[in-house]
Amino acid sequence: ERRASALLPALDLAQRQNDNWISKEVVETIAATIGVPPIRVFEVASFYTMYNLKPVGKVLLEVCRTGPCCTVGAERILQYIERKLGITVGQTTPDGMFTVRGVECLGACGYAPMMQVGEKYYEFLTESKIDQLIEEFRQNPPETR
Ligand code: FES
Repeated sequence: ERRASALLPALDLAQRQNDNWISKEVVETIAATIGVPPIRVFEVASFYTMYNLKPVGKVLLEVCRTGPCCTVGAERILQYIERKLGITVGQTTPDGMFTVRGVECLGACGYAPMMQVGEKYYEFLTESKIDQLIEEFRQNPPETR
């Protein structure tokens, strides 16, 4: 129904305006604005992986870990990032800079292994490419969605 379909754009906007995550207060505000129960907003927000229900780092590294990416080393890349940043999947570095996440196929299987950061895809990842990118992101964090 109409009100439910207003939820996605409202969540998008709210997330952009709230440091890239949807807090309990944000859920309540959206619910009140659209006129649906907060639980409904929460359900929709938790269904879609693009909504962050916990604070995330300035730079969100979303590494594809579905089949085709896995066969060419996605897990190894993920582990390398974990070791390098000293966090595990789902965590954020203590300085609030990086969050790493494993995600489902991003439709770039031909360029595997790959990850999405903000609006951009980074492809054919290797450990040295990760070193380079992380350095770059530290200096110059990419735009978040
Ligand atoms: Fe990784 Fe498709 S499996 S982009």
